[in-house]
Amino acid sequence: MEVDEVMQEAAREAEQAQNSRELYEVKMRYLGRTGKVTALLKSMREISADKRPAFGKTVNALREKLETLFSAHEERAKERELARRLAEERIDVTMPGRRAQKGALHPVTRVKNELIDIFAGMGFEVFEGPEIETEYYNFTALNTPADHPARDMQDTFYISDGILLRTQTSAGQIRLMEKKKPPIKMLSPGRVFRSDDDATHSPMFHQMEGLVVDKGITLCDLQGMLDEFARTMFSSTSKTRLRPSYFPFTEPSVEVDVSCAACGGKGCPLCKGTGWIEVLGAGMVNRRVLENCGVDPEEYAGFAFGMGIERIAMLKYGIGHIRLFTENDVRFLEQFKD
Ligand code: PHE
Repeated sequence: MEVDEVMQEAAREAEQAQNSRELYEVKMRYLGRTGKVTALLKSMREISADKRPAFGKTVNALREKLETLFSAHEERAKERELARRLAEERIDVTMPGRRAQKGALHPVTRVKNELIDIFAGMGFEVFEGPEIETEYYNFTALNTPADHPARDMQDTFYISDGILLRTQTSAGQIRLMEKKKPPIKMLSPGRVFRSDDDATHSPMFHQMEGLVVDKGITLCDLQGMLDEFARTMFSSTSKTRLRPSYFPFTEPSVEVDVSCAACGGKGCPLCKGTGWIEVLGAGMVNRRVLENCGVDPEEYAGFAFGMGIERIAMLKYGIGHIRLFTENDVRFLEQFKD
């Protein structure tokens, strides 16, 4: 009878099966609905009645043996597969983790914060004015009427008639003096906009405005505070120098130079051999500006200064092009980590 043959064949095929899926296919070829053993059982009908019980017994025994055979194989296949999966999914707990990348403050933010720290230490308060301004606050109240040639000093982006993107944080001086009576010690950081574009100028940059109004304020107070600023920002031996200049809203007006920190004032390529670097504009608040804000110039005097934050950062960190501040190249930005 073919029963033994079937058994042997099944054993060989089960042995050859590579995994539980293949093994299942083999099993179905024997014990499935259209499998060989099922076919044998069906063929019973064709067998004479006297031989039927013996035949049935044999086939049933075969089926049982096959079931035992397959379940033994199935178990081994499962074990093998589990072992393989565990090996594949093994986690190396000794492997160093991936470091989370820590961000850094933008150099403009760093310098801005540092400036606030320096001047807050001298009693200044921070006041922020709007970026969209009226001509009145940006120019007229700052003693720069429409026909004043100084309006050409700054190429202005107009939004509509009389409305513009502020060209200077000086606009904040007026807004603050309208609100607050002296004594005033204000620091006003913010974005300003000018139609200007080269290695040291960009259409948007940041300024830090300072304003002090009180009784008996003089240019000496200004220089004393700026000396302190230069020593903290650049080097403990930094000095400042005032040169005459012109701004419509200050009288007298000055350009403030800081001794070159790169050469200590001896003269080098950075300071173009002069030993000094221009860092900001300043002056005594023009009495017309005080009057425009309802402050009596007979009683009060004040000084104001305005500096470009990018310019300070470029000098402090030796940055060659203003574009670097807005390119957002992490290789550049990463250098300003603590
Ligand atoms: N607002 C001037 C500028 O943008 C700088 C300045 C501020 C000068 C305050 C004097 C006083 O150039």
